[in-house]
Amino acid sequence: MKVLVINGPNLARLDIRDSSIYGDMTYQQLVGHIETSAKTQGFQADVRQSDDEATIIGWLHEAADKKLPVIINPAAFTHYSYAIRDAAELVKSPLIEVHLSNPLSREEFRHTSVISGVANGTIGGFGPNSYVLALIALKALTA
Ligand code: DQA
Repeated sequence: MKVLVINGPNLARLDIRDSSIYGDMTYQQLVGHIETSAKTQGFQADVRQSDDEATIIGWLHEAADKKLPVIINPAAFTHYSYAIRDAAELVKSPLIEVHLSNPLSREEFRHTSVISGVANGTIGGFGPNSYVLALIALKALTA
């Protein structure tokens, strides 16, 4: 089964982001980690990244139309994009929110997720393994 993995703004620049928060994998390494872990769980991951809100909304519409499950790290959009939230609500297949860091242990503006309310669940704080845990959860949800 296919899974659409959507990564939001600035995640493609993990190489220059704070490694004490985001770890030391590059984005390309993260993509490889997700693709390999997806295969282990019996999924084929289509991993995408965009800094652009409209592009992410388009991908969520595509997931809704094609009935694809979604794993999404909306990055900073997590905290304020009602448009991404409304698009995520259109996805009737399982949708899991992930974060590399634990937003709840960081600045106060990161404590709000406008996405969590329309996700099956949220996993954060485990670095790249947040995606692996999401794939395991997705397998259980789609079994
Ligand atoms: C993030 C957490 C967000 O608060 C932040 O804006 C990001 C990445 C994470 O994966 O930990 O860009 O979603």
